[in-house]
Amino acid sequence: MKAAIYPGSFDPVTFGHLDIIKRAAEIFDELTVSVLNNKTKTPLFSVEERVKMLEEATKNLPNVKIDSFSGLLIDYAKEKNIRVAIRGLRAFTDFEYELQIAQTNRKFSGGNLDTMFLTTSLEYAYLSSSTVKEVASFNGDISESVPDFVGKLLYKKYGYDR
Ligand code: PNS
Repeated sequence: MKAAIYPGSFDPVTFGHLDIIKRAAEIFDELTVSVLNNKTKTPLFSVEERVKMLEEATKNLPNVKIDSFSGLLIDYAKEKNIRVAIRGLRAFTDFEYELQIAQTNRKFSGGNLDTMFLTTSLEYAYLSSSTVKEVASFNGDISESVPDFVGKLLYKKYGYDR
């Protein structure tokens, strides 16, 4: 069985992430989308909230599982016996950072974790969780960036009732 992990912060999940999830789920038999529990970052949504949002947003994709992890991706992948990590590339500016992480993961896993990149669909190339949060924090329109239920939760976090 061909399995892959799509790791990320997903704070919160956007249409850009969902595009990558759908396409990776068509290529692999099983895709585990895993939320990083990063103690050094202060996310807007808790790991539990992010997992719940991903579960809701992917409920129609039967071969997609949602999980969370802490620590190194290579250790988590080894524990799950998965050898492929998926990452989305939006623009050239993502490339340097992603290449370095992919090479680090390959090196320190002894060649057991490879990264496969999917290029983000053009309509989502500008999207990031950070910009979505920024727009939502000023009560701006994020309807083309995240599913409605995610938008509602975002506005709620920033004290807007819409
Ligand atoms: O959505 P993000 O924040 O761009 O995702 C980054 C992520 C989660 C893929 C990356 O930070 C990660 O895998 N972190 C776990 C720690 C690790 O294994 N780092 C790579 C070696 S430095």
